[in-house]
Amino acid sequence: MTTRGLALRLFVVLVAGFLVIQLVPYGRNHSNPPVLAEPAWNSPATRAMAVTACFDCHSNVTTWPWYSNVAPVSWLLQRHVDEGREKLNFSTWGTARQESDDLVEKVRDGEMPTWDFMLLHPDARLSAADKAAFLAGLQATFGGGGGGGGEGGGDD
Ligand code: HEC
Repeated sequence: MTTRGLALRLFVVLVAGFLVIQLVPYGRNHSNPPVLAEPAWNSPATRAMAVTACFDCHSNVTTWPWYSNVAPVSWLLQRHVDEGREKLNFSTWGTARQESDDLVEKVRDGEMPTWDFMLLHPDARLSAADKAAFLAGLQATFGGGGGGGGEGGGDD
């Protein structure tokens, strides 16, 4: 077979493979369950930054972009959102267990939001000043992160 023939055959196989994986049902459940309760945000600004930087994976009001319908990206996003909601869901506050202990640390250390999310959502890349304000707001809302104090608990 000529090189051209081989390249063409490879191309056809790749396109066919791409089309076939679109048939996998996983990754297309883009339901947004109802919002039950949100944390008592210390300010609308803190909430707004959390919406931009965290809500797509940690709430029930996920914005599903067009590429969330295209495998294999859809599989990745589905897993991020399923796992994110399971650990921490700002829409089921007080009604489900939340792993919020090291929330402030995760943001301070740059672990959250995830780097791939920031790559696709430049607005989630906070400036140093915005990040400082966000951290202060998170600390005021959730406590912790200040090196001591431990569980603050809710006053509601
Ligand atoms: C792209 C999706 C995505 C975004 C955006 C995102 N997270 Fe996460 N987050 C995850 C996933 C997936 C996990 C579970 C896996 C892990 O712990 O790495 C997680 C876990 C966590 C945890 C629990 C850690 C643990 O396991 O105890 C905290 C706290 C957290 N995220 C905070 C945040 C905060 C705060 C923001 C916004 C500043 C944010 N995340 C943005 C996907 C995301």
